Amino acid sequence: MKNKASLLNIVLALTVVILVFQINNTDQQIKPATPAVSAIHQAQPHDSISSVKKSVGPKGLIMPMPALVIGSYSAEGEPDIMTAAWAGIANSDPMSIAVSIRSSRKTYENIMATGCFTVNVPSARYVAEMDYAGLVSGHDENKFKTLNLTPVKGDFVNAPFVGEFPIVIECEVSEMIDLGSHRQFIGKVIDTKVNQNLLSTDGHVDIEALQPIIYAEGYYYGYGQRLAKPWDIYKKFKDDMEPTFQPVIHPNPTLSTIYNRKSVRHFTNEQVREDELTELVKAGMAAPTAVNKQPWAFIAINDRAMLDVLADSLPHAKMLKQATAAIAVCGDLNKALQGQARIYWVQDCSAATQNILLATEAMGLGAVWTGVHPITEREATVKNLLNLPEHIIPLNVIAIGHPTGEDQPKDKWKPENMHINKW
Ligand SMILES: Cc1cc2nc3c(=O)[nH]c(=O)nc-3n(C[C@H](O)[C@H](O)[C@H](O)COP(=O)(O)O)c2cc1C
Repeated sequence: MKNKASLLNIVLALTVVILVFQINNTDQQIKPATPAVSAIHQAQPHDSISSVKKSVGPKGLIMPMPALVIGSYSAEGEPDIMTAAWAGIANSDPMSIAVSIRSSRKTYENIMATGCFTVNVPSARYVAEMDYAGLVSGHDENKFKTLNLTPVKGDFVNAPFVGEFPIVIECEVSEMIDLGSHRQFIGKVIDTKVNQNLLSTDGHVDIEALQPIIYAEGYYYGYGQRLAKPWDIYKKFKDDMEPTFQPVIHPNPTLSTIYNRKSVRHFTNEQVREDELTELVKAGMAAPTAVNKQPWAFIAINDRAMLDVLADSLPHAKMLKQATAAIAVCGDLNKALQGQARIYWVQDCSAATQNILLATEAMGLGAVWTGVHPITEREATVKNLLNLPEHIIPLNVIAIGHPTGEDQPKDKWKPENMHINKW
């Protein structure tokens, strides 16, 4: 009896251990995976503070690091370049840049001799040149010559800049700090030059066109997605302040179009051309349909009087007064599936509608979906105005035009609406 009781106790203990293990395990499984595309304004839940951090010692894991190229002349006037990641902005007034350099580098010797250097920002196409400049020393060869790069004497300092690189900064050493392995040279910025084609009218550098190199954990990376606007994104913590939506510049242009699509209700008076309307309908017809039935018909409208009368007759389509075109996406019941599957025409025509909306965004036009089916009164109005036969049912009227820019996309990414494998 006693033996039986202890056996039962062991079984019970084992069951508890297995259960606890399973609960912990399940906890890990239901953690939502990091979304492939990070959304921008949605509050992301913090990483669990309980997620264990591992101490890795005194490492400078600043992510990412810059990947810059330092230009200098030797005492004899021989130009040299070296790659530097231990560098950054050190001061605003006077604008100063700090770069830490080991005494073994030719560059170190050069800067000590001339008191000047340039900071050169390479674009991604020069990643191989930049890597080379970081592995071969000017003690051994003239890297400008090997790499076929042009040393241009600075306008203000005794240091060469790389003619081919898009941003070059001329610096005069204002301070030096011995830190141990490296000496930190603080360079007062005397002048900065930027390739003109990268400068916007407000003086900002077009970072997408620049394609800077990002250095992290032993790899060079390219420029990625814009996340947010400084001095704006913080508003997400204030209930009464909406951050301004920043267009998503996704490396994948199709995804950029998807994220930037918005309902446009304000249009300029610029006409939508007929070829553009045809292109939009073609995009609509590229949508998937159940059993490839293509149970649809598209009425493209660019007649001012018709747009106006539709605007006056449909309750939520006033923007048609401003729009210079419209497409009524209709279901064709003669082509639709029969029986229970007949209603699939609504999904097929909805897919076509979304294609049209995305195509307008991609073509620099704007559009908004105004609903018709299943509101029978609206169906009758559109059928009557557009002279539709009995078997043609209007799903919607899409107002189309050139956007004024007033309408902005919304960020709708809500991780809580995503479930993985199970609810
Ligand atoms: C990505 C990268 C970053 C580097 N950063 C630095 C740095 O910040 N400071 C430094 O002294 N050396 C740095 N180096 C190493 C020098 O660039 C390298 O030793 C170079 O050959 C020196 O050239 P020089 O002797 O012609 O001056 C870096 C190298 C690479 C590839």
